[in-house]
Amino acid sequence: MKTWVSSILIIVVVLLAGSLLSNLIMNNHHGNHKSVFKTIESKPYEPDSIPMSSVKHLAYLDTVSVTAEGRHFAILNRENEITSFKCSECHNEPLEELKALKPKMGKKSHWNIELQHANAETMNCNTCHSENNMDELHTFTGARVSFNNSYKLCSQCHQQEYKDWAGGAHGKRVGGWAKPVVKRTCTNCHNPHSPSFPHKYPSRINTRMVEQRAKK
Ligand code: HEC
Ligand code: HEC
Ligand code: HEC
Ligand code: HEC
Repeated sequence: MKTWVSSILIIVVVLLAGSLLSNLIMNNHHGNHKSVFKTIESKPYEPDSIPMSSVKHLAYLDTVSVTAEGRHFAILNRENEITSFKCSECHNEPLEELKALKPKMGKKSHWNIELQHANAETMNCNTCHSENNMDELHTFTGARVSFNNSYKLCSQCHQQEYKDWAGGAHGKRVGGWAKPVVKRTCTNCHNPHSPSFPHKYPSRINTRMVEQRAKK
């Protein structure tokens, strides 16, 4: 076949296919079928009618409701996540008596807990834990605080982060920004005994320094 004949044939086929496609997408003249675009355009635009909710992301979560800085939201349950809770399973007699057991056991019961937070003049175990009721925490004035609400302890010394957290600028939400709001609590991210994260440097810093030194 001559090349010009086949070229014309190809052009005709492309044109036919094109018009068929555009008919399908833009407007179908045959039958009552409406195009996708027409269907969308025919709907009234009512942004408030769009149901916005985080419920479907949250159904399986174990949460507790709180009020912080006048805001109502939920946080994740902690008590069920703490390995050695309930503490009273062992702390059912005075701490002094438990400590007397130590020589027999050889190892500290909480050998894995080392306080690397504030210095010893500012903080010890009793700053947060209640010797006479280990199942609960307490504030400086002795107000009882459950393990679920441990953010109340942190707020005593870290007001700025606490306010930012209550407002949504520090920390993260679970699910989404739509209500109902569920937030991660301080101890979901920070270990209360050693709260700071190790510093990370950009990986290029070393190669750069090598380059800079080489120039000198
Ligand atoms: C398996 C038993 C056991 C469980 C569970 C347990 N403890 Fe203890 N804890 C001990 C013993 C025993 C001591 C006495 C000190 C030691 O042996 O190191 C102790 C000591 C402590 C101390 C004092 C540490 C010191 O150096 O003065 C604190 C604070 C403490 N426990 C908090 C808790 C909290 C909070 C929980 C629950 C979240 C808990 N413990 C659960 C056994 C336990
Ligand atoms: C700044 C407050 C604070 C101080 C100080 C503190 N704790 Fe805690 N501790 C907490 C909070 C809050 C939790 C619960 C953490 C969570 O939500 O996972 C906790 C949890 C624990 C647990 C349970 C851990 C687990 O995973 O089973 C033990 C045991 C414990 N603390 C012992 C101690 C001991 C011993 C000291 C002193 C060396 C101490 N804590 C000092 C706030 C504190
Ligand atoms: C008694 C006061 C006090 C309490 C209660 C307290 N902190 Fe601290 N926290 C301090 C001090 C003091 C420092 C060390 C100085 C600093 O870096 O700001 C510190 C340091 C930190 C740091 C590291 C800051 C950094 O620059 O790396 C974090 C994160 C932190 N705390 C989180 C918490 C959390 C979470 C709680 C509650 C479980 C809590 N703190 C409870 C006093 C407190
Ligand atoms: C979703 C995780 C998350 C939650 C929830 C969270 N934080 Fe943090 N926090 C961080 C990260 C990440 C940093 C930055 C650490 C860094 O730069 O080294 C930080 C930093 C901090 C610092 C150090 C601030 C500074 O300028 O260096 C403090 C203090 C602190 N958080 C306290 C809190 C307290 C109190 C709460 C609860 C009211 C809380 N955080 C909740 C992740 C979290």
